[in-house]
Amino acid sequence: MGAVLLAGMLAGCGTSLPVATSGDAARAGIQLADLEEGRSLVAAKCGSCHRPPVPAAHHTADWPRMLDEMAARSHLDLAQRHLIEQYLVTMAAR
Ligand code: HEC
Repeated sequence: MGAVLLAGMLAGCGTSLPVATSGDAARAGIQLADLEEGRSLVAAKCGSCHRPPVPAAHHTADWPRMLDEMAARSHLDLAQRHLIEQYLVTMAAR
């Protein structure tokens, strides 16, 4: 599954989503692998209608509400939504 997501990410035309570091993972108390998967999912799932949103575009507190709407548009399952939310919220708080 990781390889599929990575392929999707690389195919997503030149996005510059920030890469999570072990420092981000420690700060948020989230596995680094989960943040990396969240990043891949944003690139793969959130770039078909508009450019994939960068985390810093919105405040941490605003992301869950935005994802309520965009998760439906992107047909995310709960696990995917959770990973995307962790990534966006964590990286928005940098
Ligand atoms: C099926 C098309 C579609 C997909 C897929 C999609 N979006 Fe959107 N998104 C839109 C449209 C259309 C808008 C324009 C504003 C509106 O209608 O709310 C929008 C607006 C937004 C905005 C608001 C932009 C702003 O600055 O106000 C954010 C943030 C956003 N999308 C994030 C996401 C995320 C995160 C994902 C992936 C989980 C995603 N979108 C997937 C169609 C989509």
